[in-house]
Amino acid sequence: MNNLTEFECLALNSPLNLADGHARQALTASQARIIDDLPNLFAKAAARPPEEVGLDACRAYLGLLGQHSHPVGDGRVFACYSSSVAMEIFARALAQTGESVALIHPTFDNIPDILRGVGLNLVPLEEDVLHDGDLPRALLNSVSCVFVTTPNNPTGRVVSEERLRALAAQCADHDVILALDTSFRGFDPRAHFDHYRVLESSGCRWVVIEDTGKLWPTLELKIGWLVTAREPGLPVAKIYSDILLGSSPLVLALVQRFAEDAADGGLPDLHRFIAGNRALVRQALAGLPDVDFPDLDSRASVERVRLGARSSLEVWSTLREHNVYMLPCQKFHWADPHEGDHMLRVALARSAAPLGEAMRALRFVLSTR
Ligand SMILES: Cc1ncc(COP(=O)(O)O)c(C=O)c1O
Repeated sequence: MNNLTEFECLALNSPLNLADGHARQALTASQARIIDDLPNLFAKAAARPPEEVGLDACRAYLGLLGQHSHPVGDGRVFACYSSSVAMEIFARALAQTGESVALIHPTFDNIPDILRGVGLNLVPLEEDVLHDGDLPRALLNSVSCVFVTTPNNPTGRVVSEERLRALAAQCADHDVILALDTSFRGFDPRAHFDHYRVLESSGCRWVVIEDTGKLWPTLELKIGWLVTAREPGLPVAKIYSDILLGSSPLVLALVQRFAEDAADGGLPDLHRFIAGNRALVRQALAGLPDVDFPDLDSRASVERVRLGARSSLEVWSTLREHNVYMLPCQKFHWADPHEGDHMLRVALARSAAPLGEAMRALRFVLSTR
């Protein structure tokens, strides 16, 4: 397998797909009502200027997640079909001015793959180094960008407001771009402090990739927003226009309705749902020798399971015989794949019944190894 997405593709048609981190749980009752109203939503989106639809959607989404100082309406929020498209646009812009990027390690592997794909060199930035204090000056002198996923996938670790402020100040001092992928922020209130207030006041050049695609089970109807500092020093607008005219007003209108529903109580419900599924996974595997959970504090919609001496690839292949799919973690460790040799990642944004069935299969496989 070349990357995590290839592992995820194998799982797509299985009812016991706990591989990808996209939301696949059943719609809630109020979400189902929004879907029932799609023809009406379509007609309304078609009747309005697309810019207005886009601004309303972005305001609703970022407002829901506490990002009140967002620069929506200022010509520096670019709506893309997905966060990977936003990432590709950012990477192409960055490659025109920089050579090396300090990238959080581990993280979802399409981030290093996209950055490498445009010819950038990557320097691993270990999570502990990122969280423990100032970044080494030598590192900052050797790169043109620091790229951080927060909350991180797969670990769920969140950059605190204090750390973000210090990081942005260091990036400003070294004239290094600070890039954030916040795709999982919806799940974790600790990532709901106003990042844009911190970034805008820091004086650093920054880029944020926002993503609606992990939160709601909308069958891949999602938006990835690329948001930039006023003067990012990168040709983001030019490269965006090389690739896109814009995103679908229907999808944007749908995102707005889901965001409003979440603000109306759907978001805390979702948090409880994910917490319940996390508890289900931990209980299902309780008492197995040498099995534990390294990310005790995580609230992301994924959970890593440490397998002791068992090989994650062997467990993955045995599970596959039961039509159950999870991710072996090697490829998250893009600079040192062996670090993921004994770890699986389980997706939690699934209905409880298939999750329970898959966990019984995992318990069985782990008990016999
Ligand atoms: C942190 C992070 N960013 C971006 C992506 C890409 O999302 P998409 O496939 O919707 O473009 C993923 C996918 O899981 C991810 O985990």
